[in-house]
Amino acid sequence: MSSRRPSSSDVFRFYERTELAGEFAAVPTFSGDVPGDGQRWSTWTAVTPTERGPKPYPSWVVTSASAFDTELGIVKTGKEADLFLIERAVPGDPGQSSILAAKRYRDAETSDFHRSTRYSEGRRMRNTRDTRAVARGSAYGQSVSSTRWAYAEFEALCTLYSLGVPVPYPVQIHGTEILMEFIGHGMVAAPRLSQVRSSAHEMRALFEQVVTIMGSLASAGLAHGDLSAYNLLVKDGRVVMIDLPQVVEVVSNPSGMDFLHRDCVNVCEWFTRQRVTCDAEDLFGNLVARMF
Ligand SMILES: Nc1ncnc2c1ncn2[C@@H]1O[C@H](COP(=O)(O)OP(=O)(O)OP(=O)(O)O)[C@@H](O)[C@H]1O
Ligand SMILES: [Mg+2]
Repeated sequence: MSSRRPSSSDVFRFYERTELAGEFAAVPTFSGDVPGDGQRWSTWTAVTPTERGPKPYPSWVVTSASAFDTELGIVKTGKEADLFLIERAVPGDPGQSSILAAKRYRDAETSDFHRSTRYSEGRRMRNTRDTRAVARGSAYGQSVSSTRWAYAEFEALCTLYSLGVPVPYPVQIHGTEILMEFIGHGMVAAPRLSQVRSSAHEMRALFEQVVTIMGSLASAGLAHGDLSAYNLLVKDGRVVMIDLPQVVEVVSNPSGMDFLHRDCVNVCEWFTRQRVTCDAEDLFGNLVARMF
């Protein structure tokens, strides 16, 4: 692994953002020895080991201090966070380059979504000053709140990845920004399950994968809490679960069973519309049985 800083002779790619949803144009350009417009030094060295994903790091994770992060464009604006595409690469070293998804939580003022406190019942906050600030809704409290949801999602990604559940590999968290594996081909994001139309046989196979994923969470005492065909991606016929800040511990959260039940209903209603025979109550019963 190279530890040198980039030199003025380095040449590397820069992708210009276009207004076309999900499409980015590759524009070769030159850069000096400092990050240019739309670039920064890799933030890998700015975070602590606990703010990095589970070891062993996958081989594609770029850990060099001389890497640049280059903004490639926005993938999607969500209710409370925006998803951007970045390239983390060591200039001039094609072996050290990866495309990452950067999920950036907005502060409560610019978010049009206020997550119900029902999700965090049973969870503890780091200190009482933070608890009081969040309750008051002060500016500091709002920033604690978005950081807290970002950390909750990062922790859920780490836990589930370590359990072998198909979720994007969490590379790191830095404040309100999570960098994770980009699920897609090149720079094109994988479709959400809600966009997938397939044969009856393939739909059944997708349903079974979703049931397996929900079963893995249930065995660990967890439920997604906001599961739907919008929070499942399909890449090469494989389902990947995303959007995890509200993952709940079913038993310790007073509304845990309700969240699990709603996940079952959302999933089964969608698959029923795709003509897959399934029953939300059966699924719910099977998942609850796995918890005890
Ligand atoms: N790791 C990823 N790889 C590829 N695409 C992703 C990834 N994570 C998220 N996306 C895309 O970005 C969208 C928004 O992500 P996510 O659901 O995590 O955020 P959100 O703020 O909850 O958005 P929403 O309000 O739409 O639910 C997803 O629907 C998906 O299309
Ligand atoms: Mg979502």
